[in-house]
Amino acid sequence: MSYLETTRNVYRDAALTPDVGLCCTTNPIWELPGLKIPKIMQEMNYGCGSTVHPRDLSNNPKILYVGVGGGMELLQFAYFSRTKSGVIGVDSVDEMLEASRKNFTEAELQNNWFKSDFVELKKGDALDLPVADNSIDVAAQNCLFNIFKTEDLKKALEEMYRVLKPHGRLVMSDPICEQPMNDELRNDERLRALCLSGSLPLNDYVKALTDVGFGTIEIRARKPYRILDPKHYPTDELIFIESVEVAAIKDPMPEDGPCVFTGKAAIYYGDEDYFDDKKGHVLLQNQPLAVCDKTAGALANLNREDIFISESTFHYDGGGCC
Ligand SMILES: C[S@@+](CC[C@H](N)C(=O)[O-])C[C@H]1O[C@@H](n2cnc3c(N)ncnc32)[C@H](O)[C@@H]1O
Repeated sequence: MSYLETTRNVYRDAALTPDVGLCCTTNPIWELPGLKIPKIMQEMNYGCGSTVHPRDLSNNPKILYVGVGGGMELLQFAYFSRTKSGVIGVDSVDEMLEASRKNFTEAELQNNWFKSDFVELKKGDALDLPVADNSIDVAAQNCLFNIFKTEDLKKALEEMYRVLKPHGRLVMSDPICEQPMNDELRNDERLRALCLSGSLPLNDYVKALTDVGFGTIEIRARKPYRILDPKHYPTDELIFIESVEVAAIKDPMPEDGPCVFTGKAAIYYGDEDYFDDKKGHVLLQNQPLAVCDKTAGALANLNREDIFISESTFHYDGGGCC
């Protein structure tokens, strides 16, 4: 059996018997005015963060969600789009599609604005999406792509890139891990399927996105996720896993490399009203300008004593350079 098949089996079981602790998130289940999340969707929240950000959702975007789980995030996306087939949900597990279909019927009873046909469910694989080229404004996946091994991750990201319109965005949440993991952990198909042993360091995760062509990357959140300890897992040392929320935007790749925003800001505190680096960045006196890591590096290389560059907060929420 391949690890992809093991993964499908794990989620077939999780569709038939909801497993509250399967993928745990520190995010509270958020509800908005008029938006009620049925209990069964909360129990089937198999994500590790949130991919639903209102600022991505202006101008009635066409939304694609890959790996539907119990359907909670699709309902949250539908809250913003409220049109027939405004959200397309793709999953490779029949039982998960069936469970989410049932959950949408329950959501319809609890939310008078919601109709099940706001979500169009399709059987399909993240590695071969049943979706046309350049047809999607916002694509999302939560806690699925970390399961994929290198070549499959590349394929899954290429598929997302293919279906997005120019300047469309891929919003993702996944575990990451900065420590090396031993082969026993890496090759354990079940731990991988449970989102515990496939995760990459953040820089490798970002590189996988920029390698397929995404020109702008936003790191929106980074939080503690899990511990693998020697008593419960095949490891000699404690392994700390975090989860991240990342958006990858299908902007053209800049000639000098991608713009990766990790939450840094530059502040000019010299004697002039502003500092202009003549490369498109104007720093007003004592005002923060959000900068991507590339611009932060270029400003730091000027070795000026009147420009402060802050550390990455891993909480970038828009605006700034580039
Ligand atoms: C960890 S769960 C996440 C579910 C959902 N995103 C959430 O946040 O609750 C992974 C989901 O991906 C689906 N899945 C597994 N392998 C897949 C594949 N190759 N292509 C598409 N979906 C897949 C599973 O059925 C499951 O719904």
